[in-house]
Amino acid sequence: MLKKIILRCVLPVVTVGALFIGQYGTNESLFDDETVTAAKMAQQAGYSAESYDVVTQDGCILRMDRITGSKKSPPSDDKTAVLLVHGLLDASPTWLVAGPERALGFTLADEGYDVWLGNVRGNRYSRKNLFLHTSDPNFWNFSWNEMGIYDMPAMIDRIIEETKQEKMFVVTHSQGSAVFLVMASERPEYQEKIIAHFALAPATFESRAGISAFKVFCLLADYDYRVGKSLGIYEVDPSNKLVQTIGGKICRDESPLQLACPTIIDLLVGSHGELNATLLPLVTQYFPAGCAVKQLAHYGQLIQSGKFRKFDYGVTGNMEKYNERNPPDYNLRNVTLPTYLYHATNDKIVDVEDVLELYETLPNVEKFLIPCDAFAHLDFVWGKDANTLVYDKILSVMERYRK
Ligand SMILES: *[C@@H]1O[C@H](CO)[C@@H](O)[C@H](O)[C@H]1NC(C)=O
Ligand SMILES: *[C@@H]1O[C@H](CO)[C@@H](O)[C@H](O)[C@H]1NC(C)=O
Ligand SMILES: *[C@@H]1O[C@H](CO)[C@@H](O)[C@H](O)[C@H]1NC(C)=O
Ligand SMILES: *[C@@H]1O[C@H](CO)[C@@H](O)[C@H](O)[C@H]1NC(C)=O
Repeated sequence: MLKKIILRCVLPVVTVGALFIGQYGTNESLFDDETVTAAKMAQQAGYSAESYDVVTQDGCILRMDRITGSKKSPPSDDKTAVLLVHGLLDASPTWLVAGPERALGFTLADEGYDVWLGNVRGNRYSRKNLFLHTSDPNFWNFSWNEMGIYDMPAMIDRIIEETKQEKMFVVTHSQGSAVFLVMASERPEYQEKIIAHFALAPATFESRAGISAFKVFCLLADYDYRVGKSLGIYEVDPSNKLVQTIGGKICRDESPLQLACPTIIDLLVGSHGELNATLLPLVTQYFPAGCAVKQLAHYGQLIQSGKFRKFDYGVTGNMEKYNERNPPDYNLRNVTLPTYLYHATNDKIVDVEDVLELYETLPNVEKFLIPCDAFAHLDFVWGKDANTLVYDKILSVMERYRK
């Protein structure tokens, strides 16, 4: 009991305190901020990789990274493309951070796939717009609804343009799955370009989410939107020296305070699961990667309504925009492409029952519960055993389609 109190409360306070006192809080970063990109991480690991700027229909400029090949599977024109799309506050490096043999991005490249890593609008790598600057509140007037309508289609179109192939696989994590399902229901013609969708911890129905900082922030953001943006904050800022310092100094393997790091993840997403703390110094160089407050507010609405539906602008706003008092549900029953859901019992953000509801709503779907009690929300991207528990399954399903 005492140990639990020390781990849960005292250590984080001491950690943050130490930072402010300055003992660990030097301002030097482990990596130069500019150098942490997925393409560079891949090149450093011996893979061939490049980056693209993709412009959406409404003027956002998104950065995509691509791994074209590896020693095990040199680049060639006839590879099947796989698009990987990250979750909330996350970014493309997340698919590589666990390293070769472990991370999904590297594993797919070794298995002969053409791997594309997306970055949605507003994250660290996708902060440009043809018309708006990030200091303009209008830049931040989007939730994951707009990512589904504009960002995902723009990424898919670009992949088809570059590869000259008509179809690809898509793998998404958390909010990325919501983005995909918005696209598939709002722009159903894009379903024809997808062989199958693999959704890891899909954050769609959210009413049963456990307690975490994520939930608290979403509810606060929703409240702030409903009372008319009284706080005037539109963006969750990614240029976070404090986080980088915690990650780079406190969480490194030699640090006596490394024990506190899983607790920080606990606070953020409710459970640290199978965390490999050794990865945190690298993870915190790009994570949290920034987002719009409206994304959180939209999730705050889902937590309360229990529905997977469009943004709630209040009765007057909804009448204007949707001609209905309540926002309409996304039409998941129209999403007929093959969908594979992967979820875990220790995931506090995406509850088992919420996934069951998604499963029952989609017409062409299979689901897999990860056979590991500790497995949690972020383990789908960084977990110690994600490769054997999740990625091997995905690869064998993909292999079936490739034949
Ligand atoms: C902090 O950064 C400034 C310049 O950016 C540098 O002069 C100073 O030495 C740094 N301090 C530490 C403790 O690294
Ligand atoms: C934000 O965008 C929506 C449409 O997506 C629009 O209805 C609304 O008026 C915009 N809000 C602001 C403050 O511009
Ligand atoms: C989507 O589903 C609705 C019924 O739920 C149907 O009326 C509509 O035609 C469908 N749209 C497409 C593009 O399949
Ligand atoms: C944790 O990550 C490090 C760095 O990538 C790796 O060397 C180590 O094998 C990982 N440990 C486990 C148990 O996965």
